[in-house]
Amino acid sequence: MISQATINKILETASIEDVIGEYVRLTKRGANLVACCPFHNEKTPSFTVSPSKGIFKCFGCGKAGNVIRFIMEHEHLSYVEALKFLGRKYNIPVEDKKETAEEAQERLQRDSMLILNEYAREFYSRYLLEDARGKAVGLSYLMERGFTQATITHFGLGYAPAEKDTFTKTALAAGYRQELLTATGLTLHYPEQANKPEAFLDRFRDRVLFPIHSISGRVIGFGGRTLQSKPQQAKYVNSPDSPVYDKSRSLYGLYFAKQHISKLQKCYLVEGYTDVLSLYQAGIMNVVSSSGTSLTEQQIRLIKRFTKQVTVLYDGDDAGIKASLRSIDMLLAEGLQVKAVRFPADTDPDSFARSHSAQETLDYLEKNEVDFIHFKISLMAEDMKDPLKRSALIREILESLSVIPDIITRTVYIEECSRHLDIEEAILTREVSKIRKRKFAQMQRPAPAVSPEVTDAGGARTFAPPQHTHRTSGESDALQYERNLLYYLLKFGQSNMTENTTVAAYIIASLQKDDLEFQDPFLSHIFKEYTTLTGDNEARKKHFINHPDPQIAQYVLHLLSQPHHINLKVLRESLPIEESLLEQNVTKSILVYKMRIVSLTCNTLTTKLQQAQMEGEEERMEEIMRELTVMMEVRNSFAKELNRLS
Ligand code: CTP
Ligand code: MN
Repeated sequence: MISQATINKILETASIEDVIGEYVRLTKRGANLVACCPFHNEKTPSFTVSPSKGIFKCFGCGKAGNVIRFIMEHEHLSYVEALKFLGRKYNIPVEDKKETAEEAQERLQRDSMLILNEYAREFYSRYLLEDARGKAVGLSYLMERGFTQATITHFGLGYAPAEKDTFTKTALAAGYRQELLTATGLTLHYPEQANKPEAFLDRFRDRVLFPIHSISGRVIGFGGRTLQSKPQQAKYVNSPDSPVYDKSRSLYGLYFAKQHISKLQKCYLVEGYTDVLSLYQAGIMNVVSSSGTSLTEQQIRLIKRFTKQVTVLYDGDDAGIKASLRSIDMLLAEGLQVKAVRFPADTDPDSFARSHSAQETLDYLEKNEVDFIHFKISLMAEDMKDPLKRSALIREILESLSVIPDIITRTVYIEECSRHLDIEEAILTREVSKIRKRKFAQMQRPAPAVSPEVTDAGGARTFAPPQHTHRTSGESDALQYERNLLYYLLKFGQSNMTENTTVAAYIIASLQKDDLEFQDPFLSHIFKEYTTLTGDNEARKKHFINHPDPQIAQYVLHLLSQPHHINLKVLRESLPIEESLLEQNVTKSILVYKMRIVSLTCNTLTTKLQQAQMEGEEERMEEIMRELTVMMEVRNSFAKELNRLS
């Protein structure tokens, strides 16, 4: 944790026009400065910097935030990393506050492990490039496979000596502690062999090593490929998970690929280390690999930090493809746009890139890339003739469609699918919605209630902000109404609504009156924090825009910059929001929100009623009926009042 005082100091010192001015050429326009956006390609400037507000906003691509956000986006850093970056630049010491002794110990341990890993990388790459045996065995293997010297150095490849403990001994002699060697997994410890030379052995022996980098370029682990083709020997030996290496949260190649992914707005996903290297060498640098393990949600979120478009590359052989189709659904479920390419029989991205020119490889990717629906259909083209298999295939595709969170994207794909499978769109829509209902119902079961938590790279735990995408019909909650209230609170909270009430006071009191709390945990968190603040509107907005939790800062900024959107939807009017309309609008927003909550309660009661009926519980039915009647009356009274206002 970095103290608020330090953050404030950074915000005061690092003026946004100076910082951004180093990346783009800013020209004055009125009170603001404008430039061509560094985050997307454009010819006419729509990127605006407001020195007085301390924020930037691009009207083309929508990126917006304060100076910290800019550095996060431009340098691809986490919040904490960005603060340290600015701290270094402006000579402001960035300390981590209130670290407990235990935390400090853990941080030290992690730092030491990273230093040791870097030492190991150097050791192994020196052995590969300078040692006679390393060169004869390791380097010649890599060269034979077509990797250039430049690629080998760029990715920091190495070679591990064949002897049982050369590395361990060297590292110990260099002063690295035994305990660290074991913790990183570079050394294997066999306690039962205590006091014998076999107690400590190198994990990597006689293998070519691929260092695995964190997103910011630190070496966190290694993958080691054997040079033998003995079936009894594992082809790869990998570093174990450790305090610095979490397999499910890292992607091989991401450190090298991230800027290319972000610039090209596309990420290629391949299977292995060598696929990454070969494509990269062919100039296709926006490529990452989940290194043989099945893709995880956290890995997908990593990709999502840079782009929403992912193309999965599949080997030519059938085996394995069907099993790995799950990645496609996982990517879809995270709201990504998914395409796929299949390589010719008996080739994979690595061998293809090696036997073709860079241009041919790129052409192949571009020509053969299809969206996931076509991909699934083509994969099972054979099956299409058999009616039974055909229906299984359709099911499979419907499952994929059903995980797409955004309703518009989903609809577009359903149309597409209807054309290709020659099935009426309405039928597909109905089936997809059935699957979604079933899934939603499964999610509603009490079972493991996973709260939506997001961990940023700095380790801070925050709530996940609600999606800005359209809510789907299955999810009937009060989110958009809460968002609407929050909008008024943040934008006009301290303005007068009536002669002696502020908007904030009115909203807070109206909710309290009915014992209402925001249902969405993220919004509720912001709401509660708002009530603890002092100062005028501007001061409170500033507080949130510069909030230490970047998710909150982003969310608030987004909320404040898209008023019409929210209002149109909720109030079904396109009136411009002006302070003169505050009283009417806020009153209405409160009413629609309360109505929503009441409706939700009514729905729940109705379900309970049906249940009670099925179970023949007459008494409970009576009770629920009474409650339901009251609720419906309340709803009606709200509706009447709302009518009167409109
Ligand atoms: N993998 C692994 N352990 C294994 C086999 C594979 O961790 N025993 C992972 C590696 O990350 C590997 C990826 O799965 O890169 C893909 O496996 P494979 O295609 O067999 O390996 P390649 O890296 O493509 O190796 P090569 O081209 O040299 O056969
Ligand atoms: Mn391969």
